[in-house]
Amino acid sequence: MPAVQICEVGPRDGLQNAKHLMPTAAKKKWIAALAAAGLREIEVGSFVPPKLIPAMADTGEIVAYAKTIPGLKVVALAPNLKGFQRALECGAHKVTFPVSASHLHSVSNVRMTPDQMIEEVRRCTEHPHPGVEIEGAVSTAFGCTMQGTVPEDEVVRIAGRLAQFCDGVALADTVGYANPAQVRRLFKRVKAEIGDRLEGAHFHNTRGLGLANALAAYEEGVRSFDSSMGGLGGCPFAPGASGNVITEDLVFMFESMGVSTGIGFDALLKARQLLVEAIPEEPVYGHMPLAGLPKGFRASA
Ligand code: COA
Ligand code: ZN
Repeated sequence: MPAVQICEVGPRDGLQNAKHLMPTAAKKKWIAALAAAGLREIEVGSFVPPKLIPAMADTGEIVAYAKTIPGLKVVALAPNLKGFQRALECGAHKVTFPVSASHLHSVSNVRMTPDQMIEEVRRCTEHPHPGVEIEGAVSTAFGCTMQGTVPEDEVVRIAGRLAQFCDGVALADTVGYANPAQVRRLFKRVKAEIGDRLEGAHFHNTRGLGLANALAAYEEGVRSFDSSMGGLGGCPFAPGASGNVITEDLVFMFESMGVSTGIGFDALLKARQLLVEAIPEEPVYGHMPLAGLPKGFRASA
């Protein structure tokens, strides 16, 4: 077992915000290559109205394909019961719900207030879902481009409610406002409230602090991280949101610290090549892919 679990969210968080559509066949090849690199969890798409996010229109087919890859946990995002039912029909292993702690972002993103969205998630958890994991992700947990400050008490309250019926809860910095001190403080507070139900951390690199925030969360005991290949990503309903923490650099950080990820660099770079070939107009980021591995570098065992 790797010491940290990295969930690649590029096919969802990345492609939902990309200017160019990735064809379904290319998505499949990319996902297969990510899995071959050792990513054991991939958020492959979202079940949302195709009119709203055309890039996610093929999520059903993508989930079905991803399920044929042995050992891969196939994750999909759903914003409501309808999306959840589609995710169950298609056989997703895990479904993530975005529950924004910012009132303005919540209404913009899912057309529900935070409390209405909590209730929607609760309704979904009551729907039979044998063997399917449900995660409540508290989005804009560290601030919001529309509302500005998001009170920490509100994040703790929402996480506490979600922990009553979700298998796991994640904290997401949807717009890249977090700093490491804030990450430590908020993860500590939420952990005190919900204990082991607090699982994941989802950071965006908008202001360059993605890795620093991931390290801060790691030091608070988090072992489950979202990231996106090439630093793609962003929420189309949160103005100013840009790319996720970069998978290649996150893997390098952990591996160079001796913290195993189960992910191999050569295969990761092959997957990156497929991404670049599939949507060449899209900018991709990352220090490790440009600089290469340090001389004498040894990945963790
Ligand atoms: N998947 C596909 N279609 C859906 C759907 C889903 N999950 N949920 C609703 N719809 C359809 C309805 O059937 C209806 O179709 P119709 O016009 O043909 O009758 C239409 O969409 C409107 O339904 P309604 O329930 O009124 O939804 P809404 O317009 O209030 O939108 C959400 C609410 C939650 C569906 C929408 O805001 C959403 O998908 N948000 C997520 C956005 C996102 O992905 N953000 C980035 C990730 S965090
Ligand atoms: Zn995100």
